[in-house]
Amino acid sequence: MRRIALINQKGGVGKTTTTVNLGAALALAGRRVVVIDLDPQANLSLHFDVQLESGEPSSYSVLLGNCAFGDALRDTMTPGLRLLPSNIDLSGAELELANAFGRELILRDAIDTWDKEHREKHGVSPADYVLLDCPPSLGLLSVNGLVAAHEAVVSVQTEFFALQGMTKLVDVVSLLRRRLNPRLEVTGFLPCLYDNRTKLAREVIAELRSYFPGRVFTRAIAKNVKLAEAPSYGKTIFEYAPESSGAQDYELVAAEVMAQESVHPELAARYPAKAAEPLPAPGPRTVVPRKAPARTPEPLPCAPAPIAVVELTPRLGTMAPPERVKEEELPELPPDAVLLEGAAD
Ligand SMILES: Nc1ncnc2c1ncn2[C@@H]1O[C@H](COP(=O)(O)OP(=O)(O)OP(=O)(O)O)[C@@H](O)[C@H]1O
Ligand SMILES: [Mg+2]
Repeated sequence: MRRIALINQKGGVGKTTTTVNLGAALALAGRRVVVIDLDPQANLSLHFDVQLESGEPSSYSVLLGNCAFGDALRDTMTPGLRLLPSNIDLSGAELELANAFGRELILRDAIDTWDKEHREKHGVSPADYVLLDCPPSLGLLSVNGLVAAHEAVVSVQTEFFALQGMTKLVDVVSLLRRRLNPRLEVTGFLPCLYDNRTKLAREVIAELRSYFPGRVFTRAIAKNVKLAEAPSYGKTIFEYAPESSGAQDYELVAAEVMAQESVHPELAARYPAKAAEPLPAPGPRTVVPRKAPARTPEPLPCAPAPIAVVELTPRLGTMAPPERVKEEELPELPPDAVLLEGAAD
């Protein structure tokens, strides 16, 4: 079972959108997926149109030890995709657990117990993927997520200040690995809310690739209004707008994630053909003009920019699992690494 925490202490960078739609894409590809809402804002739950009454089984009741992990899961409209929801009750958990012994390990233990019991009963793990949607902070809830996870994926908004705070994030992950979770690795950086029409966005991706070689997803998630609209209908992008560029982006990111299954013996054995299949070649991005085109049926002024095609299409069909680089081996980011140059083209 792969356990992947979506993290970034910055808010609004695409963690929840990625948890929902990567989870849905994996489930639609036949994987058994659980997504966990670890944020008191409960945005992940709202994406699935789940609004809990106080006291209903949730991530809060699991953390408080009032409910077993498996008993708090709910089915979603996507077959194979289950949700551990949260609600505002979770905002009290940090204080309520402040003096609890082993408070950083509660979620990990709950998932381990669920996994162990299921294996004893059915001979297999209860899920292929667990995705944990962390809140925009590095407090106890995120720490529980990172201790329960084996992998961390950092969603990065390709904007000004994108890299600020990244050193802190990488430091926290290193510290957790030393003290609490030796299995934890940052396995991916996913550029989100990407606008390939801006020089700045391309520069942020280039910076990320130079700091974290081999670990930045080939496919970036472009800005797409359908991704922003889907939660208000309580739907994943595949239910709301399956033909959208947002759906295509998440499908391709899911393919990159599944390409790494070959290094996970359990998954490689369960999905041998899929793990060996070459990834679908992505088409070039559709470039939407900033202004509505004139009424004349002229070709769009901005045909797909060569830069975008070059940057986003290579290697996808042949990508090997990422090399696992230890944080200690990574080049140190400047303490206030901020892109100071670059503006919209
Ligand atoms: N690729 C995208 N295109 C357009 N809108 C997006 C995209 N990704 C996310 N959004 C929108 O941006 C906002 C922030 O996204 P999201 O909630 O996923 O970020 P987050 O990192 O989980 O935020 P928080 O830290 O507050 O939990 C949401 O309104 C979401 O619908
Ligand atoms: Mg969120």
